[in-house]
Amino acid sequence: MRSEAAARAATLRAQIAQHDYRYYVLDDPEVPDAEYDRLMQELRALEAADPSLITADSPTQRVSGTPSAAFGEVSHSVPMLSLENAFSEEDLRGFDRRLHERLGVDGELAYVAEPKLDGLAVSILYREGLLERAATRGDGVTGEDVTANVRTIRAVPQRLRGQAPPLFEARGEVFMPLAGFARMNEQARARGEKVFVNPRNAAAGSLRQLDARLTAARPLTAFFYGLGAVTGVALPPQQHQVLQLLRSLGLPVSPEARTVRGVQGCLAYYRDLGARRSALPYQIDGVVYKLDSRADQERVGFVSRAPRWAIAHKFPAEEAVTVVRDIEFQVGRTGALTPVARLEPVFVGGVTVSNVTLHNIDEVQRKDVRPGDTVVVRRAGDVIPEVVGVLGERRPPGARAVQLPASCPVCQSQVLRVAGEAVARCTGGFTCRAQRQEALRHFASRRALDIEGLGDKVVEQLIEHDYVRSPADIYALELGQLSQLERMGEKSAANLLEAIEKSKRTSLPRLLFGLGIREVGEATALALARHFGSLEALAAADAARIQQVPDVGPIVAAHVAAFFAAPAHLAVIEALKARGVHWPDMPVAAVTGQPLAGRTFVVTGTLESMTREQAQEALTARGAKVAGSVSKKTSYVVAGREAGSKLAKAQQLGIPVLEEAAFLKLLAGE
Ligand code: IVH
Repeated sequence: MRSEAAARAATLRAQIAQHDYRYYVLDDPEVPDAEYDRLMQELRALEAADPSLITADSPTQRVSGTPSAAFGEVSHSVPMLSLENAFSEEDLRGFDRRLHERLGVDGELAYVAEPKLDGLAVSILYREGLLERAATRGDGVTGEDVTANVRTIRAVPQRLRGQAPPLFEARGEVFMPLAGFARMNEQARARGEKVFVNPRNAAAGSLRQLDARLTAARPLTAFFYGLGAVTGVALPPQQHQVLQLLRSLGLPVSPEARTVRGVQGCLAYYRDLGARRSALPYQIDGVVYKLDSRADQERVGFVSRAPRWAIAHKFPAEEAVTVVRDIEFQVGRTGALTPVARLEPVFVGGVTVSNVTLHNIDEVQRKDVRPGDTVVVRRAGDVIPEVVGVLGERRPPGARAVQLPASCPVCQSQVLRVAGEAVARCTGGFTCRAQRQEALRHFASRRALDIEGLGDKVVEQLIEHDYVRSPADIYALELGQLSQLERMGEKSAANLLEAIEKSKRTSLPRLLFGLGIREVGEATALALARHFGSLEALAAADAARIQQVPDVGPIVAAHVAAFFAAPAHLAVIEALKARGVHWPDMPVAAVTGQPLAGRTFVVTGTLESMTREQAQEALTARGAKVAGSVSKKTSYVVAGREAGSKLAKAQQLGIPVLEEAAFLKLLAGE
């Protein structure tokens, strides 16, 4: 009986180890997670029934032992080195040149290039193939014993595969993939616990848990890249073969590692990996180049604590640490109060960052950013910079939490926050200088009334002198006023007046866009103008009617209706007209009863219930356009029997296809 169970347990252990290997080392899992879980379950049950079946390398033993009070010390018989950094091509050329000089060779040197992983270095000792001890780097000579924690990492095998040397020390990096990091922080946030600022800190924090059961719940993984003490095997002559050896023993190695030739090869690798950096499932902060010839590695040796035969070529840092000088609220065109962190300027992601938006008060409170805090700022690629988190331990005493101001910092009007909305707004409207300024800037902008010469600086001064309060006041400006402004001579003042005069002749879509109605961008302005034809018709419409405009939803409709319901806005429009601003009415594209206005259809194949011509007539009668060929602009393709290339094209472009039944429903307005 026991021998049967023991044999089954051994089989299960071997199967599970094989699945781990397929998953972590080959990156080619053989079975779905559920099957893996089933094997684990069966093994657990066998071991629970007869604990004498448990072996040290059983996958059920990854989490074991009791939490300790402190980590033991481990001394590294082969020191764990650090790396010199190269921050530029020049630094890299210098590195390559020095190696040529020391080795006295010409011609290109071969290097192994691999990602510099953003985690923490570990050294794992296997004796007779069994995981015996794992340690952190510490100061390179003495590290901490994190065996219990490292055992919980499924990517780290409990037993080496194949012919394991008597003693084999593997060196690598433990890190946390981005997906796991995001998931873990989300869960922590939901429980109201502290979140980690980045995957590196999360990995370090997780590995240094005194209770391994906590580490087990953290999504850590590892790649191996080097050796420590090894006995009983001849080591291969080249670094890339060391990687092969690690892999063959069942240790995961970065799939990105490559052998390259010379500086050119290094740089090509660097650029390629740099371009793919943000698409990788984990964070890296550069590339490591290592001489491929291990004999040459030995010949050049070390300087202090770093090898001469390797270098880390850093990518521009995407994260930096700085101090928040202050948090201010900016008031936008629509009165939205946006908290902005004013930072000690910091160079990150290739630019100097001194202001970072915090988006809204919820975000400030969620991240708990306070003036005086030391924060991690991130700017990856072209993404706008963000504060990723606060370094809590560096908070100065007395740092006060940020509150939403009760009144507008610009005009002192009341600040309102609609329940359920993230955004708080100043209620001052045009009486708020900040809103006036933004509104005027927008009104005069190129895609609105297009007043050349009425840029930010001029608008600012016009507001400051209180020459202009509403857009209509622009049309009452006089030469004398303009020429007094800073950096504005007679000539440019006259030019500006001329531009203002010219802008009086405009179009309904431009005017609608320029009025700065919330949620009304250029496309919506055009749709509204086409649908209603005149400002009067639009102003008279209620939200329900406005919502009939193609692509206008209930929120936009409500904003438009509210805008024209405000007497102050109607007064501005009247004043604009009185001062000569004019625009022609537009041909009405779609009146009600044209539910398909703005949509383009292509009809193809044979329909059962009508001819193709009838289908086309039905569509045009409802305001739709009918086209002969499928393009990106097609809204729908109606496909009857034996539809051919047009249907294929629609599928290729991802354009919705209506079969006859759906088409009939659409015509019926269902
Ligand atoms: S090799 C003798 N390779 O970088 C070589 N290190 O700055 C010593 N690291 O402590 C390390 N990825 O934590 C090497 N592919 C890689 C690496 C790597 C990340 C870390 C490691 C090391 C630190 C040195």
